Amino acid sequence: MTNYQELKHLAERLMSNNKGLLAMDESTGTCDKRFGALGIPQTEEYRRKYRQLIVTTPDLEESISGAILFEESLHQLTDDGRSFLDILQQKDIIPGIKVDQGTVPLSFFPEETITEGLDGLSKRMATYYQMGLRFAKWRAVIHIDAVLPTKTCIAANAFTLARYAAICQEAGIVPIVEPEVLMDGTHTLQRCAVVTQDVLKEVFNALYEQKVYLEGMILKPNMVLPGLHCLDQVNAEVVAHETISCFLKVVPAAIGGIAFLSGGQSPTLASERLNMMHLRYGAIMPWPLTFSFSRAIQQPALEIWKGEDNNIAAAQKALAYRAACNRAARMAEYNPTL
Ligand code: G3H
Repeated sequence: MTNYQELKHLAERLMSNNKGLLAMDESTGTCDKRFGALGIPQTEEYRRKYRQLIVTTPDLEESISGAILFEESLHQLTDDGRSFLDILQQKDIIPGIKVDQGTVPLSFFPEETITEGLDGLSKRMATYYQMGLRFAKWRAVIHIDAVLPTKTCIAANAFTLARYAAICQEAGIVPIVEPEVLMDGTHTLQRCAVVTQDVLKEVFNALYEQKVYLEGMILKPNMVLPGLHCLDQVNAEVVAHETISCFLKVVPAAIGGIAFLSGGQSPTLASERLNMMHLRYGAIMPWPLTFSFSRAIQQPALEIWKGEDNNIAAAQKALAYRAACNRAARMAEYNPTL
C-alpha cells in the first residue's frame, strides 16, 4: 500500500529550512570528463576520494537537506571504513539515488534522446528503500534547435518520467522528476520559454495519467534562459520573470517543490538568478523553490582539489560556501560579495 503521508512528509523534509539538494550523481563518463579537464586521474579510487571529500565536508548539512548519489557510491567507504550513506544520515542529509541509466538516441529520431532504465526498476527500488534511500532522480534531456524538439520526443520522455515516478512512489521513494531543456545552442529566451512550457505541460499530463501523487514528488527543471550562444543574453531580472511566469502557467501548486538544476550556468549566475526569483516573486509562488545543483555547487571545489590531499580542506570550504550561497539565495539574501 502506497504510504502517501510518508511521501509528502519526505518531500517536505527535502524542501525544509531553506535548504536545497546537492547532486553528486555524475555518471562515470561525466566524472571522467570533469576529472580529465583538471588532470585528475580518472579512476574509481579518485572518484571515491572526491566523494569522500564531499560527504565529509564540515557544515554541509547547514545548507543541504538531501544528496543525490550515483550507484557506485552506495558501497563506497571513507578511508576509516565508514559508509557514505551512514555519514549522510548522521548529518541528517537524506540520501537519494540517480536511477536512470542515461540517454540513447530515440529510435527514428536520431537527433533526440530517450532516457533508459525502467526495466527491473521496481525491484531495484525495493532494494534502495531497504538501504535507507528515500528519494530518486531521473533525467530526461530535451534539445532545442530550429526544428527540435519534436512532439514525439517530448511525449516519449514525459511518459517515461511519469512511469518512473509512479514506480518510485509505489516503493515509498520520492521521485525527483527532471525534464532538462538544454542551454546549448543559439536559441532565444522566448524559444526556451515556449519549449519549457510545452515540456512541462506534457510531463504533468503524463503524471496525472499515471496517478502520480503530486504532493510526494519534486520537479527538477531548467531555468528559462537564452541559449549559451544566443547573442541576446539577459539579466537575472528577466530570467526570474520568464521562469516564474512559465511555471505559474503549468506547474501545479500541489507539488512537493521545485529544485532547479544548474545546467552549466556559472555558480554565481545560478545563485543570483535563484535569489532574484525569491526577491521578486517569493510572496506569490505557490511552491517551495530551491536548488539541486551539481556543477554550480561542486565546480569551484573540484578546481581547488585537483586530486591532491593537501587541498581537501580548502576544497571543502569552497563547497560549503557555494551551498551556503544558494541557501541564502533561497531566502533572497544572496550577495555575490559575501
Ligand atoms: O542531472 C543533472 C544534475 O543532477 C544537475 O547537474 O546542476 O550540473 O546541471 P547540474
